[in-house]
Amino acid sequence: MHSIEPSGLTQKFPPDFVWGVATSAFQIEGAAAEDGKGPSIWDRFCRLPGAIADHSDADLACDHYHRWAEDLDLVAGLGVDAYRFSVSWPRVRPDGDGAWNGKGLDFYERLVDGLLERGVKPYLTLNHWDLPDALQCRGGWAERNTVHLFVEYALGMQERLGDRVAAITTHNEPWVMATLGHEIGTFAPGIRDRAVAMQVAHHLLLSHGLALQALRAQGSSANLGIVLNLSPVHAATDTEADQASARLEDGRLVRWYMDSLFKGRYPQDVIDFLGPDMPRIEPGDMDVIATPMDFLGINYYSRSVISAAGPWDVHSSGRTVTDMGWEIYPEGLTELLLRLHRDYPVPPMYVTENGGAFKDQFEEGRVRDPQRTDYIARHIGAVADAMRQGVPMAGYMVWSLLDNFEWASGFEKRFGIVHVDYANQLRTPKDSALWYQRFLRAQGALRSQAVSDTTRARRGRRDVAIAGA
Ligand code: FCB
Repeated sequence: MHSIEPSGLTQKFPPDFVWGVATSAFQIEGAAAEDGKGPSIWDRFCRLPGAIADHSDADLACDHYHRWAEDLDLVAGLGVDAYRFSVSWPRVRPDGDGAWNGKGLDFYERLVDGLLERGVKPYLTLNHWDLPDALQCRGGWAERNTVHLFVEYALGMQERLGDRVAAITTHNEPWVMATLGHEIGTFAPGIRDRAVAMQVAHHLLLSHGLALQALRAQGSSANLGIVLNLSPVHAATDTEADQASARLEDGRLVRWYMDSLFKGRYPQDVIDFLGPDMPRIEPGDMDVIATPMDFLGINYYSRSVISAAGPWDVHSSGRTVTDMGWEIYPEGLTELLLRLHRDYPVPPMYVTENGGAFKDQFEEGRVRDPQRTDYIARHIGAVADAMRQGVPMAGYMVWSLLDNFEWASGFEKRFGIVHVDYANQLRTPKDSALWYQRFLRAQGALRSQAVSDTTRARRGRRDVAIAGA
């Protein structure tokens, strides 16, 4: 595998393009029952027999709750502009309603201040899947009351941190929570009921809109948005059956979210397909969902290929797959961004997650992961391609800073650009982290070049103005 040097990516990104790296609370923090934290639905799910591939849980994970300062040094050392992290709702308000947990709030205050001290912009996500288990016992996201409690939670976090974070994301990947969590059941809370899943999807979207309105009414200074997992959906063959299945999947994965958020309606083909499984929608809900956003985050890992006859054999594409078995398909990111820009009145877009699980090789103290570097470089190139074709992009963030608890896959799948030895919590930047650091330095140099070019141009203009005066 050849390694791609920063010089191989000479595209000049705009000077205000935000480069970042991302994590989420449940996957790295550990301290599952410390300092007053309540259990989340994922704490419970991990204890179900067979739910997690390696039978692990995230009680300790990367012990980030205690090692946050060292981890923020790693973030700053990369040279990124931004760090995307999430707050654990049950750490700050253990029962989902009722008393707030001061020690939990203090943790996020330290984290945000620690980022600012290191010159890194905090990008906060409110819900990266770890709903307080106490709320699940009362129906979870299927209950409309959870929507209102989420708004209270959003306002509580804004009160504490709103003046210092650059961005607040309401939800990370509502499709995953609704579909994997409530229809397929492979993610927490492990329910298998399509009608429940669609009610959850509706409530997540509604709570997003209501939270945006409430945060703005309180004078939020942060940029507000949502993060969706989106992919181009391709039919495995051009038979009518495959094409129809792919269209429906596009409706369920992409248009259900994009049409409601940007057009204030659910797609008719999905409504027809769902029939009695359509969620209950109250008057005014759709307008709330379509509340304008400041940014849209997109998590992209692969395309989706649909075959009416059953699961598509990824190896038939002849392409390389990651350790998750996900096809490496960078041009799908360009295709997706162009389509979103064409079909919807989107605000500035970020790639809020992109990265790959691969098996690392240790060699003389180094962690060699050429495939991960190649994956990241090719996807950054795909973003550049979309920008060259007119899509205004605001930023790109690598998933993930650290190897971490990869949900139902446990600790077996490693996405980090920094290796974590779970036996002693030792962090070792992989070659991909060193590459990203060099790439960002090169971008920084292009950036200062751009700044001095603009200054020169401005000076030039003034000269002209003076000459003409
Ligand atoms: C996304 C999740 C993130 C991580 C990556 C691999 O769906 O948002 O937490 O697990 O996948």
